[in-house]
Amino acid sequence: MAALIQSIGDLREVARRRIPRAIFDYADGGSYEERTLRRNAADLDALSFRQRVMIDVSGVSLATTLLGTSASLPLAIAPTGLAGFFHADGEILGARAAAAFGIPFCLSTMSICSIEDVRAATTQPFWFQQYLMRDRGFNQDLIDRAIAARCSALMLTLDLQVIGERRRDPRNGLTIPPRITWRNAFDVATKPSWALGVLFGKRRTFGNLAGRIDGTSGIRTLAEWTATQFDPTANWRDVDWVRSRWPGKLILKGILDPADARLGLAAGADAIVVSNHGGRQLDGAPSTISVLPGIVDAIGGGCEVLFDGGIRSGQDLAKALALGARAGLIGKSFLFALAAGGEAGVTRALCILRDELKVTLALTGTTQVGAAGPHMLV
Ligand code: GLV
Repeated sequence: MAALIQSIGDLREVARRRIPRAIFDYADGGSYEERTLRRNAADLDALSFRQRVMIDVSGVSLATTLLGTSASLPLAIAPTGLAGFFHADGEILGARAAAAFGIPFCLSTMSICSIEDVRAATTQPFWFQQYLMRDRGFNQDLIDRAIAARCSALMLTLDLQVIGERRRDPRNGLTIPPRITWRNAFDVATKPSWALGVLFGKRRTFGNLAGRIDGTSGIRTLAEWTATQFDPTANWRDVDWVRSRWPGKLILKGILDPADARLGLAAGADAIVVSNHGGRQLDGAPSTISVLPGIVDAIGGGCEVLFDGGIRSGQDLAKALALGARAGLIGKSFLFALAAGGEAGVTRALCILRDELKVTLALTGTTQVGAAGPHMLV
């Protein structure tokens, strides 16, 4: 990473130049008209901090615990599909960067490196994410593999029974594995290091599906995969089923309503993630920051409340903490950093977020992350 990188926005610009448009847009985009995607950012932007002065902030501490494990800052890497298309071995590099930094990494079922790949190439526990599949045997199989890989938490995604249309993907011809076509040939030719690492690399499709689905190679698009594999009948009884099968910490992701937050708590969640899937599912849903306080109230301390959706800076993260989140998750920011600089890029992103968060806490007179609260906002 030669360029001067000062912000997540800088990493996004480097990523844009390094990887093909179809891959960049998979991360950058949302569903339909991308209203909710924009709201996530706009509503975070609209909040103002309350500056406080003459408070000793020499020892601002960011350390916290997440699901009972210490973390160096209140942040985790969100599960993101196709990370291994943003950089060869992307999931392994992300897990390593997170572990070195002392924060959790969550591997997606739709990863390119498999659970076993990540386990074999890293030393620290990581979280594993799954969806409810039509074939419950596949869920059981993934749970068994996550147990064998000593994953420290299972994150169940609740908001993808059907997929919101991501209009950029078919427009760009995003396929799995990536292919050169006459339409993207120039784009790919101008991204030689990406082509060498990913297009001609050894891992080019969903690593966790190997041997699971007949003719995985016949699956070309995410929409096709989710439509055929994900279970539209899934309901809270299925969450109970997962809870009964998974002995460790359970995180329920995709909660946007206080009523669902209460149901998640009753289903035995150790944590929930307030999430609209990064604006990739229900277009027109509220921003996550706007619903966070109501959900924190509904949970009433019954489990941890995590937050994602639009975190592009330590200031954004501070706003989520101020409104009651225990920690934030980064998905898009992670993928941009990964594309921009591999493991070093992710480490850079984490340093940026950490430093921005630290200064923001200090200038709002907040001496430790646990003391974050609404008093930090105007
Ligand atoms: C997968 O969950 C995606 O949003 O693409």
